Amino acid sequence: MIDATTISVAVVGPGAIGGTVAAWLSRSPLVGRLILCARSSLERLSVETPDGGRIEATPMVLTCPDQVEGPVDWVLVATKTYDVAGAAAWLKPLMGPDSRLAVLQNGVEHVERFAPFVPADRILPVIVDVPAEREGPGMIRHRRNGTLTVPKGEAGEAFAALFREEALRPVLTDDFITAAWTKLALNCAGAVCALTGQPSGVVASPGVAELMRGMAAECVAVGRALGADLGDDLPGWVVERTRASPPDSVNSLYGDRLAGRSMEWDARNAVIARLGEPLGVPTPLNAMAATLLSAMGWSLA
Ligand SMILES: NC(=O)c1ccc[n+]([C@@H]2O[C@H](COP(=O)([O-])OP(=O)(O)OC[C@H]3O[C@@H](n4cnc5c(N)ncnc54)[C@H](OP(=O)(O)O)[C@@H]3O)[C@@H](O)[C@H]2O)c1
Repeated sequence: MIDATTISVAVVGPGAIGGTVAAWLSRSPLVGRLILCARSSLERLSVETPDGGRIEATPMVLTCPDQVEGPVDWVLVATKTYDVAGAAAWLKPLMGPDSRLAVLQNGVEHVERFAPFVPADRILPVIVDVPAEREGPGMIRHRRNGTLTVPKGEAGEAFAALFREEALRPVLTDDFITAAWTKLALNCAGAVCALTGQPSGVVASPGVAELMRGMAAECVAVGRALGADLGDDLPGWVVERTRASPPDSVNSLYGDRLAGRSMEWDARNAVIARLGEPLGVPTPLNAMAATLLSAMGWSLA
């Protein structure tokens, strides 16, 4: 049983999301010890908050798993999905028998990604709906209030108790699979930005809007076959939500392409084809998107 006054938290991957979450946790009276587990060193966190304020924090920063001095109550992993192997190296020293792992990443395979390293019943999947951007090491802009959605239950409630601020509101759901596939529908269609080299405004092209609708419809078909309760209106909502975003906004997949980094094509597109295939659900658009995006990464390497 964790003593609520002395909760220790390690955030693995203090980038846009990890840094934002860590900054808000640094204000929590429940968190007695906060550790950042980073790949590249940083001196402090400086996070611009949605209300125009700023959180400055100087948690302990470790850059090598050998520096960990013992297990913590919560490990929050917020690396990109393609950096799971590196993130996993932190888990052995950080996870004790009572530790829990929260996975703050995109996609629908949060538990599957980390199950080779941690018993599945210790893993809490988290759907992150928090717009945040990294402007430098530890320098982050948290643009708008956001949510962290977790499954209802003891672990979800313990996680939610860490977050008390409206800017980072925890949401408990008894239908996590539907929430995760709804987010995936939006994310899979966002591939058109990285593929065309255009920000969100590219949705103004009727052909692109139709393509996005088709990609989201494939996601709906696979999600439904796996038990998600997804409405017929979801593909249209994906297009409308993209139209409503600022035309110059850059999603994280396209942001990764612009920065010459790897891209989360596997977690956002290939997963739909991979899970659809044995179910007999056709997914040609997402399969093609994943193939083209992976080929771009390959040629950049
Ligand atoms: N940003 C958003 O608005 C947003 C919104 C919703 C969901 N998400 C999802 O949230 C997840 C995190 O995204 P992000 O935007 O926060 O990514 P990010 O800004 O690229 O941050 C990832 C961080 O992980 C670090 N990292 C990589 N390998 C590591 C290792 N072995 N040990 C320690 N740290 C390591 C990176 O270090 P370096 O500094 O060396 O690169 C970086 O600081 C992704 O799945 C993303 O799709 C993001």
